[in-house]
Amino acid sequence: MASTSGAAQVLVASNRGPVSYEVREDGSLRAKRGGGGLVSGLSAIGPDAGALWVCSALGDGDREAVRRGVGETGVRMLAIPADVHADAYNGIANSVLWFVHHMLYQTPLEPVFDAEFRRQWASYETYNRAFAEALAEEAAEGAAVIVQDYHLALVPGMLRDLRPDLRIGHFSHTPWAPPEYFRMLPDDIAGQLLRGMLGADRLGFLTHRWADAFTACCAEFAGGLGDTRIGVHGLGADADFLRRRSHEADVTERMAALRQEIGEGRRAIVRVDRTELSKNIVRGLLAYGQLLDDHPEWRERVAHVAFAYPSRQDLAVYRDYTAEVQRVAEEINERYGTPGWTPVVLHVKDDFARSLAAYRLADVALVNPIRDGMNLVAKEVPVVSDEGCVLVLSREAGAYEELGEDAIAVNPYDVTATARALHAALTMGPEERAERTKRLVAAATALPPAQWFLEQLQSLRAAV
Ligand code: G6P
Repeated sequence: MASTSGAAQVLVASNRGPVSYEVREDGSLRAKRGGGGLVSGLSAIGPDAGALWVCSALGDGDREAVRRGVGETGVRMLAIPADVHADAYNGIANSVLWFVHHMLYQTPLEPVFDAEFRRQWASYETYNRAFAEALAEEAAEGAAVIVQDYHLALVPGMLRDLRPDLRIGHFSHTPWAPPEYFRMLPDDIAGQLLRGMLGADRLGFLTHRWADAFTACCAEFAGGLGDTRIGVHGLGADADFLRRRSHEADVTERMAALRQEIGEGRRAIVRVDRTELSKNIVRGLLAYGQLLDDHPEWRERVAHVAFAYPSRQDLAVYRDYTAEVQRVAEEINERYGTPGWTPVVLHVKDDFARSLAAYRLADVALVNPIRDGMNLVAKEVPVVSDEGCVLVLSREAGAYEELGEDAIAVNPYDVTATARALHAALTMGPEERAERTKRLVAAATALPPAQWFLEQLQSLRAAV
């Protein structure tokens, strides 16, 4: 047992860190900083709080940075061997755990838990152990550690063994699978995952629904929760940042360009997603096509602005899904388009300023995932939209728990009902739209990222 005491008082661990590196042509390294809830959360505790973020090197640039000893204060990047990382991240985290929690398998043919799976699982253990050991090394006596997500489900248990003095928390940014689906995993693996998580003092989830599913899995497969506490922290939109950022010059520029693409005077149904299989972009497009069939009066008067940004392109199913999104969008444009009207404005290259421009222009936001931990887009569009917007929201998104009452709810599989919801959204009167937007904004901003993080930290320190 290694029980060295480091200096960090608050530690965060996640696969993807707050910074990544690129090797420039001249051989120098360029650092790129990311955003998101954890970044603002950690900045809320201030630079003197003794915080450390432990993350994994992801690409070649990151590995090179670790090799050269380049890094940022407050960040420790682990140079886990590329093949081990690929097995753990692509093989287990994204192809098994993500699929289980989002219930994405086409079960007649998958999953197949064979020798190859066992080999990848061994890498997942190695990768989790590297995190547990680094955290054990860096944490001061009695420090608080908050581990993030399904990539690191085994870390709490491993870390507990190495450093029983620590306060260990874990936060899940995804849904949790219900027992009937979770039991698809081999029994020993299911048990190992639950025991790994239960090594924490406190487990955080985005909604009660996911917390209850986890509790039910523990009751069925792990003899209950033991001493581990469960908390729900519904991450909200960062309103101050979004309002400020969405009024900067680059966003205004992109609004003008986008307005031209949509066409003057036309309504905009906006969606912005990472192209995840769970986002249901294809059925969203089909519903839009159905709307144009059922209500021809909308032709030439509306455009569907769909931004589908690349995600996890190492995985063939993701690449195929992106291609399908493009194919269906083109089909709709060919079928309904006219010389002066492109029904679907699709962009697949990530551009944050253009996303904010679309948020500002949105009359309707379409958020129809088949299953989603939270979905921050559902919270962000109402905050940023210039004229207020109507939210068409899947009842399977975590955000539904907080926003459901003021959104138009849809069953994500029901394309006909989604088309109806889009029509209802487009025809909603301005007063009702304004009233609903006001309430959506209040709910969406109830727990901004900084507070979300502090709340977890305080609860963890208070947990006995
Ligand atoms: C989404 C999920 C998170 C997850 C992240 C990882 O945002 O909500 O639960 O951690 O994806 O994305 P990555 O690009 O690192 O695979």
